[in-house]
Amino acid sequence: MQKARIAVLVSGGGTNLQALINAQQSDIIKSGSITLVVSNKSDAYALTRAANANIKTAVIEKKGNPDFEEQLINTLDAEGIDLIVLAGFMCILSENFTRHFENRIINVHPSLIPSFCGEGFYGLRVHEAALSYGVKVTGATVHFVNEIPDGGKIILQKAVEIKEGDTPEVLQKRVMEQAEWKILPEACEMVCKQILKGEEK
Ligand code: GAR
Repeated sequence: MQKARIAVLVSGGGTNLQALINAQQSDIIKSGSITLVVSNKSDAYALTRAANANIKTAVIEKKGNPDFEEQLINTLDAEGIDLIVLAGFMCILSENFTRHFENRIINVHPSLIPSFCGEGFYGLRVHEAALSYGVKVTGATVHFVNEIPDGGKIILQKAVEIKEGDTPEVLQKRVMEQAEWKILPEACEMVCKQILKGEEK
C-alpha cells in the first residue's frame, strides 16, 4: 500500500475537511489520500468542498434510517478505507461500528478533553460551556474513537487562550484557526504513517 485510503465523515460546513484537503495539497499529509467524503446531511457545505477538490462523495441520511450504520459500513468497506476521520460529524457511532474499525477512526473535538466533552457536547455548545464555566484556556483534541463518546486514546492536543469578551462564535473561530486546522492534519499524517508501517510487516 503506497498511501492509506482516507474517508472523511462530515455533517456541516467542513472547514476541517478543507484543512485536510489543503494539507494534502501542501504535502503535510503525504502518507494518505482522501478518497471519500461521507455526509449524513445532503445540504452540508462540506460536500461542495469535496466536489471542488474532485473527491468522491456519498450521502447517507441518518434521520429515520434504521440501516444508517450498516449502510455506512458497507460504503466504507466498498472503498477499502484504511482510516476514517470524523471532521464535524455530528453522529454518535455504536460499539458495533467502532469495533469494526478498531484504531482506524479519529475525531477532532473542540476542547481539551476531558473537559467539555461526551454526549451533548458538540459544535458551539462546547464553547458555550467553556465560557460559562469561566476557564481561561481551552483548545482542541484529536483522539481515536471507541464506543465511549470522546473517550478514546488522545493523539494530539493544542491549547488556545480565552479572551475577555469572547462569544462562543469568536472562540470557536479561534480554536479552529489556532488548533483544529493544525492538529487534525498532523494527527491524520501520523496515523496514516503508522498504518503504512503496519502493512509493511
Ligand atoms: C468543529 O469545531 C469540530 O471540532 C466540531 O464541530 C465543528 C465542525 O466544523 N466537532 C464536534 O463538536 C464533535 N464533537 P466544520 O464542519 O467547519 O469542520
